[in-house]
Parts: sequence; C-alpha cells; structure tokens
Amino acid sequence: MMNQARALAILLLSCAFFAGTAHAEGNLEHGEALAYTCLGCHGIEGYRNAYPSYRVPKLGGQTAAYLVVALKGYRDGTRAHSTMHAQAASLSDQDIEDVTSYLATLGTDGVESGGSKVEPIEETATCVACHGQNGISVSPAWPSLAGQHEEYLVHALNQYRDGTRKDPVMAQMAAPLSDDDVKLMARYFSRLKGLETTKPGRTP
Ligand code: HEC
Ligand code: HEC
Repeated sequence: MMNQARALAILLLSCAFFAGTAHAEGNLEHGEALAYTCLGCHGIEGYRNAYPSYRVPKLGGQTAAYLVVALKGYRDGTRAHSTMHAQAASLSDQDIEDVTSYLATLGTDGVESGGSKVEPIEETATCVACHGQNGISVSPAWPSLAGQHEEYLVHALNQYRDGTRKDPVMAQMAAPLSDDDVKLMARYFSRLKGLETTKPGRTP
C-alpha cells in the first residue's frame, strides 16, 4: 500500500501549486457552439474509442479547471491521443475557456445525487485524499472519478503505469499498483454516483 504521509505531502505541494489557477469565466454561448462537435462522441451514452476499445470518458460534472488542463495537454501534445489532438489543435486558450465553461454547466457533479451507497475500500485510502471520499475531487484542478466509465479508468491508470500518460503525481501513485489493484480501484470509483454523459439541453 502507498505511504499515506508521502501522498499527503504531495497533496499539499499540489495545493500550493494550483492555488493560483482559479477558473476564468468563459463565454457560454461560444462554448456551446464549440461543444457541438464534442458531444458527437462525449454526448452519446456508451460511445467507444476504437483500438484500443474503451468507453469515451464522461465529461458531465467534471471539474472545470481539470478540463482545461486535459484539453491543453492534448493540444500541446503532452497527452497523446490522435483524435483528441485533432479536436483540440484548432482551439485557442480562449476557446478552451469557453468550451470548458459550457461543459461545466452540464451534469450535476454528484453532489446533488446525495452521495453514494458504496462501501469505502481500504485500497483507495491514498487516492481519496485528492479524488475525494465520494470520488468528487477536492480541487477543481483534479479530475473527479465518481461514476466515470470503469474501462476508461482502467485505461487511464494503465497509461500512467506505462508512462504513455505523463503526470508526475499520478505516475508515482500508479507505479506500485498491480493489475488487480487497478481493476479494483476502477470498479470502486465507477460505482460511485457523480459524472454523467453530457447531454445537450441539460443546461440549468
Ligand atoms: C471522435 C470522438 C471525440 C470527439 C469528437 C471529441 N472527443 Fe474528447 N475524448 C475522446 C476520447 C476517446 C477521449 C479519451 C482519450 C484518452 O484516452 O486520453 C477523450 C478525452 C477527452 C477529455 C479528457 C477527459 C478526462 O477525463 O481526462 C476531454 C476534456 C475531452 N475529451 C474534451 C473534448 C472536447 C472539448 C471536444 C470538442 C472540442 C471533444 N472532446 C471531442 C473522444 C472524442
Ligand atoms: C496528490 C493528489 C492525487 C492522489 C493522491 C491521486 N491522484 Fe489521481 N489524479 C491527480 C491529478 C492531479 C490527476 C490529473 C493528472 C493529469 O493531468 O493527467 C489525476 C488523474 C487520475 C486519473 C485520470 C482521470 C481522468 O479523467 O482521466 C485516474 C483514473 C486517477 N487519477 C486515479 C487515482 C487513483 C486510483 C489514486 C490512488 C492510487 C490516485 N488517483 C491518487 C491527483 C491525485
């Protein structure tokens, strides 16, 4: 199991690091127009990525600042995925603010769903320091995991383990995990209530 004190130290460092990245308000109308294409994949329940096959991640209720980080990662090539790179390549920083501000209005982030009835498991004790006891992240710059597709969570954790996806914090967190740990954690977080497949027209 992970050393909890070490995880906490990383957590505090990351907090200090992200303290200055408050989410700027984007233009929702422009964001909605930009999101039209995105929802062609992210707005369809159970839509799959091909080769390898896994479900396209849910974005509804995802933390806004993390959506920005993810899109800039695809655009600037620090996060590899050819389709998402093609999607993000033409977006300016302002476009990214606009589209993520719009996406952040979709979904309920699980808070309203009254929490979860899933029993906590000991194996995720380190993870929940950042990703939240209920899978809703404690910082807007970190992704919520609650309700995310199980297959996508497995895919993401394996990418951190094999270095395809680079993030210094998650690389350290994922390195000691076995295939069984990954399955267990993905299953746990996917069963919590939270993220949703975005559907146009759910705007409050
Ligand atoms: C052709 C289908 C497709 C389209 C269109 C598409 N995406 Fe994606 N998106 C994906 C897939 C597949 C992934 C997972 C990629 C990976 O494994 O890193 C993804 C990942 C993401 C992520 C990261 C989610 C996470 O939890 O880390 C964000 C944010 C995102 N897309 C936003 C967008 C936005 C905004 C648009 C429109 C500008 C868009 N996507 C258009 C398929 C698509
Ligand atoms: C110190 C804070 C911290 C801890 C502890 C932590 N994470 Fe993370 N996690 C992050 C951050 C930050 C990211 C986003 C990194 C990036 O941009 O790729 C992330 C991303 C992820 C993702 C990808 C989500 C997505 O939408 O693509 C998964 C899955 C994940 N973490 C699972 C875990 C698990 C399982 C543990 C425990 C073994 C854990 N994390 C521990 C901070 C943390």
